[in-house]
Amino acid sequence: MPVVVIAAWLAGCHTKDMVGNEASIAGTEHVCASCHGDHGRSNNPDFPNLAGQQKTYLQAQLHAFHNKTRADPHAHTYMWGMAANLDGPTIDGLAAVFAAEPAAPGSAQDPDLVAAGRKIFVGGIPAAHVPPCMACHGAHALGAGPIPRLASQHRVYLEGQLHAFKVNSRANKTMHANAQSMDDEQIRDISAYLASLS
Ligand code: HEC
Ligand code: HEC
Repeated sequence: MPVVVIAAWLAGCHTKDMVGNEASIAGTEHVCASCHGDHGRSNNPDFPNLAGQQKTYLQAQLHAFHNKTRADPHAHTYMWGMAANLDGPTIDGLAAVFAAEPAAPGSAQDPDLVAAGRKIFVGGIPAAHVPPCMACHGAHALGAGPIPRLASQHRVYLEGQLHAFKVNSRANKTMHANAQSMDDEQIRDISAYLASLS
């Protein structure tokens, strides 16, 4: 291919930011919507919002379900089968589509829990050696690259993930270290705070 043609082709790919077959991505996205909601904004608190999530993080999770390395009980039950037949280009395309959707709004939560959760988010829990969440997840919990957005995620889902990190059924060194000494109340409070954010 002459250089100009390659350049134009690459520019085209870049603008669309889609690498898989677009028809198959759109068809697959339709299947995802049955649990994750229209445009990745879910109505069921067990099913995470995908809209507005970091693209690199979404790609990594879909590969982890595909490879069965993300092995908490709901990952196993719901997502291993879903991801089994996704190839690399389709994963990239789905991640790009959901990352580009506007995120769901936050939900109303008990103000006392929100206040207690905000303290953990900003200052960590020094007595338990838990670092401030905002150090990695960002001042507004929007994430960056492989670090997920947490703002406006469902509280029930967040609580479930923190318990899974704590017991290491969702094996992640960093988040296991952060969650292992959090108690149930602290997990509830930080999850309420994050769910309340938009
Ligand atoms: C039958 C319901 C169901 C369907 C259909 C489904 N999912 Fe999921 N998905 C879930 C559940 C439940 C979880 C949470 C798993 C857990 O708790 O670990 C999840 C988690 C995820 C996550 C991780 C999100 C995060 O914040 O870590 C991604 C990414 C994802 N799904 C993408 C998809 C895509 C893409 C499709 C379509 C190909 C899809 N899902 C179809 C139920 C479903
Ligand atoms: C040192 C950096 C770091 C700190 C500090 C940190 N996290 Fe994380 N967190 C991560 C990374 C990286 C991931 C992605 C893990 C993966 O790929 O499975 C993550 C994932 C998560 C998830 C899963 C989100 C989802 O969509 O499934 C939750 C919930 C979470 N963190 C909550 C917290 C909370 C609450 C705190 C503060 C107590 C915190 N994190 C502190 C780096 C960090």
